[in-house]
Amino acid sequence: MYKELKNLNQKPEVFQSYTADSLWTDPHRAEQMLSYHLNSDIEAASRNTEFIDKSVSWMIKHFELSCESKVGDFGCGPGLYSSRFAKENINITGIDFSKNSTDYAQRYAQDNNLTVEYINQNYLEYSEVEKYDLTIMIMCDFCALSPAQRKQMLTVLYNSLKKGGKLIIDVYSLAAFAARKESALYERDQLFGFWSKKDYFAFVNIFKYENEKVVLDKYTIFEENDESYTVYNWLQYFSPRSLAVEFEQAGFSVLEYFADVAGSNFSESNAEFAIVAEKSTL
Ligand SMILES: C[S@@+](CC[C@H](N)C(=O)[O-])C[C@H]1O[C@@H](n2cnc3c(N)ncnc32)[C@H](O)[C@@H]1O
Repeated sequence: MYKELKNLNQKPEVFQSYTADSLWTDPHRAEQMLSYHLNSDIEAASRNTEFIDKSVSWMIKHFELSCESKVGDFGCGPGLYSSRFAKENINITGIDFSKNSTDYAQRYAQDNNLTVEYINQNYLEYSEVEKYDLTIMIMCDFCALSPAQRKQMLTVLYNSLKKGGKLIIDVYSLAAFAARKESALYERDQLFGFWSKKDYFAFVNIFKYENEKVVLDKYTIFEENDESYTVYNWLQYFSPRSLAVEFEQAGFSVLEYFADVAGSNFSESNAEFAIVAEKSTL
């Protein structure tokens, strides 16, 4: 018991393991995530309906999108943004590795006579080139990636854009990093059945990496049949400059910052911010 607890509380190397698939594609958790996405009162997986409506209207206006435009929605989930773009007759492709989510999104499109292309794939492996006028990655998904994965993701996004194409993503800020605290707790049935249908105990360890501006939310789940597993939820926090450096290294020109993907004015004290960047026209 002591050894086990010591191991649980041991701080891992930063970005030691990537378990995003266990969080999003495990059949039980994918169902739970889908219900979070579709419940506008829970902002764990998507933002609320009012915000998404405002965001899509703002993006259409800001990026001057028309029925000629092509938009790529990376990590589209159940298509909350993609389906709204489709309703405005914009050509939209949603990419997500959760089949549960893309199946739901596809059904929603069919039921509502919308044309959307949904691709069930790991977005780090996406390979289409020069297709989009705009790519979006929303709900701070970029922050869950390690530095090497972010480099790979920015190459994927860069290649997927036409020359002069633009990109908007949102990320967590240093103000949000300052507000995070290390902690350790254990709880029976943590998140009310989110982790498993079976009875379980969850150990939740939060580790802060001051130099790297990273936080790890580590969940170790022990189920009643003695099965156990660990989910690592890494979050990278950015300053506008630290984010710009990564974009510039990938070949983008940084154009603007906003407080969110609905065009609110940028503020240092906001927990999140959004960056707009462009692929050169040359
Ligand atoms: C926080 S949710 C946001 C969904 C959507 N952008 C929204 O705001 O409603 C992140 C989404 O990214 C997907 N995702 C996470 N990692 C992925 C990866 N490596 N490849 C493809 N999809 C991924 C998840 O399945 C999930 O649907």
